[in-house]
Amino acid sequence: MSTVLVTGANSGLGAEVARVLAEAGAEVILACRDVDKASAVADTIDGKTEVRSLDLADLSSIHTFADELPRSVDVLVNNAGVMGVPRGTTADGFESHIGTNHLGAFALTGLLIDRVRDRVVTVSSGLHVLGRIHDDLNWEHRRYQRWLAYGQSKLANLLFAYELHRRLSAAGRTTISVAAHPGVAATEGQRRDTSIQGKLLAGGPAQTPVMGALPILYAATEAGVAGTCVGPDGFLQRRGHPTLVRTSRRSRDTALAAALWERSERLTGVRYALASR
Ligand SMILES: NC(=O)c1ccc[n+]([C@@H]2O[C@H](COP(=O)([O-])OP(=O)(O)OC[C@H]3O[C@@H](n4cnc5c(N)ncnc54)[C@H](OP(=O)(O)O)[C@@H]3O)[C@@H](O)[C@H]2O)c1
Repeated sequence: MSTVLVTGANSGLGAEVARVLAEAGAEVILACRDVDKASAVADTIDGKTEVRSLDLADLSSIHTFADELPRSVDVLVNNAGVMGVPRGTTADGFESHIGTNHLGAFALTGLLIDRVRDRVVTVSSGLHVLGRIHDDLNWEHRRYQRWLAYGQSKLANLLFAYELHRRLSAAGRTTISVAAHPGVAATEGQRRDTSIQGKLLAGGPAQTPVMGALPILYAATEAGVAGTCVGPDGFLQRRGHPTLVRTSRRSRDTALAAALWERSERLTGVRYALASR
């Protein structure tokens, strides 16, 4: 039986991924900042689940989580994320989107990488196309724009997922890294932004969370996905069934990915010692 760790599994796509994998026989760890909400979801799942506390907007919580995780996992799904939220900062002073969605996932993965046997799946978004990796990563010196901040974090997710795969392969590891994106799916995160801008970006009717979870499930379980991105096969990758998708040219920029990696190590204090095993 395989073990899968899903971050942000107390709602939306993460809950759906946890449900499907647990009901298919996996042991699923729901790693969530709200353990009551996570326990309520776990209670509805007909399978083996465990709830653990993890706040990706707080490096000390990520360290505690990693220190206390008692075992290895087969699959780590970096799903948790904030979407289009007003300007805010994490416990460590990072802008909320980049801090939670990228730096949190980067730190968690780095602390667990020697304990992930099969693969790391990182959830990005079609809105990565809006993103640029700014010198001012934390939006301290320009007017804050929430969807551009989200776009930056989701571009960072892709740069990270691809770079992680290159580094794992170069180190001779068998663990793979895969990116996934759900298209547009009706979840709390997607509904929370009721601005016209948010609705326009969501682009038409959303598919169900069950459909949105499919690319993540495909990335977590199928062969032949190493170093790729899985997304929906429909128009503009907004809806449909999972397939390997092309992401922006910027997301495949290896120099940008390497620079972001060094910066993420510096900011989080988490260093990946991949070559040393
Ligand atoms: N829905 C879409 O159309 C869509 C499109 C593209 C990409 N995505 C991506 O899909 C992923 C899941 O989003 P969703 O649509 O399922 O939204 P959601 O229902 O809002 O779920 C987001 C999850 O992330 C968790 N989370 C947020 N901040 C966290 C933190 N600091 N520490 C730990 N967990 C945290 C949330 O926990 P709380 O309940 O405690 O807030 C929640 O469980 C995200 O990465 C999102 O960017 C979604």
